[in-house]
Amino acid sequence: MFCWCCNVMLRRVKFYSICFAFGISVLLFFVGNRYYPNNTYYRPFIESRKNVKNFLKVGNEAYTVLNIPKILYDGSPDIKILLEKTRSIIKYELSKYTFSQFGAQALENLVLESGGQPLRSLIISTWRSGTTFLGQLLNAIPGTYYHYEPLLKYGIVQIRGPPDGDKAIDNIKSMMKCDYKDLKDYFDFGKKNLEQFHHNTRLWDHCKHKRKLCYDANFTSRICKLFPFQTMKVVRLRLRLIQDVLKDKQLNVKVILLIRDPRAVMQSRQHRTFCQTSADCWDPPLLCADMISDYVAAARIQKKYPDRLMVLRYEELALQPNVTAYRILKFLKISATGLLDKFLVLHTNVDVAGVSSTFRVSKVVPFKWKNTLNFTYVDEIQRACQEAMSLWGYKMAKNETHLKSKNFMPLDNYTIS
Ligand SMILES: *[C@@H]1O[C@H](CO)[C@@H](O)[C@H](O)[C@H]1NC(C)=O
Ligand SMILES: *[C@@H]1O[C@H](CO)[C@@H](O)[C@H](O)[C@H]1NC(C)=O
Ligand SMILES: *[C@@H]1O[C@H](CO)[C@@H](O)[C@H](O)[C@H]1NC(C)=O
Ligand SMILES: *[C@@H]1O[C@H](CO)[C@@H](O)[C@H](O)[C@H]1NC(C)=O
Ligand SMILES: *[C@@H]1O[C@H](CO)[C@@H](O)[C@H](O)[C@H]1NC(C)=O
Repeated sequence: MFCWCCNVMLRRVKFYSICFAFGISVLLFFVGNRYYPNNTYYRPFIESRKNVKNFLKVGNEAYTVLNIPKILYDGSPDIKILLEKTRSIIKYELSKYTFSQFGAQALENLVLESGGQPLRSLIISTWRSGTTFLGQLLNAIPGTYYHYEPLLKYGIVQIRGPPDGDKAIDNIKSMMKCDYKDLKDYFDFGKKNLEQFHHNTRLWDHCKHKRKLCYDANFTSRICKLFPFQTMKVVRLRLRLIQDVLKDKQLNVKVILLIRDPRAVMQSRQHRTFCQTSADCWDPPLLCADMISDYVAAARIQKKYPDRLMVLRYEELALQPNVTAYRILKFLKISATGLLDKFLVLHTNVDVAGVSSTFRVSKVVPFKWKNTLNFTYVDEIQRACQEAMSLWGYKMAKNETHLKSKNFMPLDNYTIS
């Protein structure tokens, strides 16, 4: 009796320990799969309907926020583990990438953490000029850290010089060096305005689980230093002031100046409430004075730093997205990747299941203003913008009939000189 009992108990213990061991190994198997990117179970960028569901509105145009590679996050509060995972994901995403075209032998040469210097690019533009699309395009390049609008805290203001110019430039330089320690204002503003962080998808993948990480100067500095490509978009600062950033040899930044037809910009700003409060936003003469100032600065910069500035009209990007995107890559000396091609297909020609064509940049988008603005208003803008439009190659509409005519193609050639 006793021995039988003993036997059963022993068998039971054996059974439970087998169960336990099995459980542990299953657990280890799954944990292992989550952590090692080379494993076949790891799919960092799965295209699905859900991913395309999200979209941002840009005036009347709407764009999908495409499925930018996601860092799988398991809620781990351990910063060391987060950084280690981010490192291995970047390595994985860029494993087939050739770095020789920038004279860099390997990823490490472009990573601040290991003593390298990243490839930095800076988009300079103004509100409603298509920067959202351009920013997302650059963000679609694997290994990109997207510093979105460091100057949001200034509000609807154009910075053209003192009193804010120097501080704004310092702010931009610090962020480009991944040095966040003196950016208290930036973090304080971001706490109440999370959109400051949303667009930096590779940072937001962590903050969406734990907001505090986004305001943590130590964490943001360390994660920033892992990325070989760093890009930033600024719509509140004129190109003239950027010469100070170009001077910095260590940064070696490349600048893209994005210009758009002032009539299209004003049409897009018309229905934006944020715009009504600031003359910098609603007054055509101010917009066009800035366009002239940018033209003069562009000519000067191109002489001094021939391979560091690219000027781009939004209309060219919308009419020929693929050709223009490849021109941008060539300028930045970044080779194309599958993900960028996916982005272009998603945004330009092919219909994606369940998503209507309005999410795409199409040939009609850049000239929508022709049909929605009346000639009285177009004429008012044109009078204020005559010089700016002539410099940047935008043709005048002569009268109402001309404006609405299908034969009126507003784009002309232009040169920077
Ligand atoms: C972040 O904190 C760690 C640990 O306290 C420290 O070793 C490191 O130097 C800090 N890094 C930065 C960029 O502040
Ligand atoms: C875009 O242009 C590049 C280079 O001109 C070409 O190789 C690529 O196939 C094009 N992609 C699409 C989707 O048209
Ligand atoms: C033309 O458009 C402007 C700006 O939207 C508006 O204020 C004005 O009333 C319009 N004029 C006419 C004649 O419709
Ligand atoms: C409008 O402008 C076009 C092009 O300059 C001109 O041919 C046409 O006669 C004008 N129409 C009116 C009604 O003024
Ligand atoms: C602009 O330049 C291109 C190529 O140089 C030329 O083919 C085209 O006709 C020009 N367009 C205008 C409006 O002058």
